[in-house]
Amino acid sequence: MPVHLLAIESSCDDTAAAVLTDGQVRSNCVASQEIHRLYGGVVPEVASRAHQSNLLPVVEAALQQAGISKHDLNAIAFTRGPGLLGSLLVGTAFAKAFALAQNIPLIEVDHMDAHVMALFAEPPFPSFPFLCLTVSGGHTQIIRVTDPLEMERIGYTLDDAAGEAFDKAGKMLGLPYPAGPHIDRLAREGTPRFSLPEPSIEGLNFSFSGLKTAILYFLRKETSANPAFIEENLADICASIQHSIVTILLKKLKRAAKETGIRQIGIAGGVSANSGLRTELERLGKKEGWKTFIPKFQYCTDNAAMIGLVAHQKYLLGQFASQSVAPYASGQSR
Ligand code: KG4
Ligand code: ZN
Repeated sequence: MPVHLLAIESSCDDTAAAVLTDGQVRSNCVASQEIHRLYGGVVPEVASRAHQSNLLPVVEAALQQAGISKHDLNAIAFTRGPGLLGSLLVGTAFAKAFALAQNIPLIEVDHMDAHVMALFAEPPFPSFPFLCLTVSGGHTQIIRVTDPLEMERIGYTLDDAAGEAFDKAGKMLGLPYPAGPHIDRLAREGTPRFSLPEPSIEGLNFSFSGLKTAILYFLRKETSANPAFIEENLADICASIQHSIVTILLKKLKRAAKETGIRQIGIAGGVSANSGLRTELERLGKKEGWKTFIPKFQYCTDNAAMIGLVAHQKYLLGQFASQSVAPYASGQSR
């Protein structure tokens, strides 16, 4: 009998639902909350309310696209954390009620584990053990993955995440939120001719707050000499910022590969949609003799297919959650 799973994701500002059959993605629907652009960042209370109104239509779309009735489902999976507590609560409450109503098991999934498992949405798949650079709006981590459900964090950011660095730099440039995709697009037409400082952090950890301050001071200095500096040099500034972030990320990834001896290397999370990072990873991979894995765009940014991919593994092992399960926000432990 095939195993049909419904997965939902509501940790931040995307309301997403997906259907998987035997671990294969049948549908992957996302409703992005455009309203946050008005505020230049995600407003938690606004996000929770938008999840409430988006969730049911997104779930219905995912079931319809997969051609699956809710009565065919074997389990429902949801993101337990980390993320915004209010947003997570909407998904958690929905999943619990759905599990009760359909009398099917409930499966809780960690959002960051799920970003890594997005590498298994479509072949070719990495073999174990592999390293994954998980780069999102809230996290920057190097993960050593020994099994679909066994992940060890061997490097992480001491302050800002890579996505946050893109978004904050973009804000200084007057770009809309989230700025990562805008910087990516503009960088394609520019040259990285402005040099920005590299942090000197030991080991496999990252730091992006120094870069953020350096960008602020650089822009202040240049715009006081020429108020039109940003406008006149936008593409080159974006190319320089992107080059700097990508260099920092890949330097640590190269170090992690050397230290662990692992040559199967993947990237995941919203920032893995960045064209500079994707191109440079492939270039570095060829030079270093790595086998590299990059998810398709729709599996990089927040989506529910990745939640379903972890859930499928848990389903096979009978790892179900109870009705008393509570979400955990960013910074809280599981
Ligand atoms: O994984 P994600 O969708 O949500 C979180 O879990 O945080 O990541 C969102 C982050 C944002 O900071 C956004 O600016 C960044 O991913 N991002 C990008 C690109 N697409 C999304 N950053 C750089 N280049 C992109 N093309
Ligand atoms: Zn994410």
